[in-house]
Amino acid sequence: MLRIGALVSGGGTNLQKIIDSVNSGDIKGEIVSVVSSSPNAYALERAKKNNIETSVLRLRDFGSRREYSEALIKHFRERNVELIVLAGFMIILDPVFADAFPNRIMNIHPALIPSFCGEGFYGLHVHEAALAKGVKVTGATVHFVDGKADNGPIIMQKAVEVMDDDTPESLQKRVMEQAEWIIFPKAISLFAEGRIKVYENKVKILKGDLK
Ligand code: GRF
Repeated sequence: MLRIGALVSGGGTNLQKIIDSVNSGDIKGEIVSVVSSSPNAYALERAKKNNIETSVLRLRDFGSRREYSEALIKHFRERNVELIVLAGFMIILDPVFADAFPNRIMNIHPALIPSFCGEGFYGLHVHEAALAKGVKVTGATVHFVDGKADNGPIIMQKAVEVMDDDTPESLQKRVMEQAEWIIFPKAISLFAEGRIKVYENKVKILKGDLK
């Protein structure tokens, strides 16, 4: 059973889908720790309802981003976590964090990387930028985390249509429902089955048993 840790900051709808997939057996793993950067994140309630250990670590309680990142490394190492998922985590960590768990941290980004990603592209800003550019499709990307924002090897992507009358909010909702909530649990499930391999910064998904 894969030991999974999660970092959250907000509502936790992605976390909920991951919890559901663990509970249904689709993900052959166990969420051993959910850490929030904010005490008010509803994601914490979702974890508690499922008897998952929760912790709150706030950036402002540490001397620097580096110290904060080191505390998180220690936290997950103490729990022998094998995969860390960033499920709506709004803090940029020091590169020491990514270096501590190479190809073992997954992030979901609400656009098709390399579009609308990198510094400043978070939350609704991503969808505002997609609408401002007038793209006809957008989507979501699950990728491994390296030292740079939205930069690591791409694991899965799913496209979503943009409608003429979309607002950033309506587009955000469609991207979550039609892409994020599907590909994030799927990518974690593949990882748990040992089917994700990284060659020269590119991901290959190994074929599973034919059913
Ligand atoms: C999602 O849009 C995700 O792509 C982004 O932050 C949002 C988190 O939403 N990284 P939730 O907390 O999972 O509901």
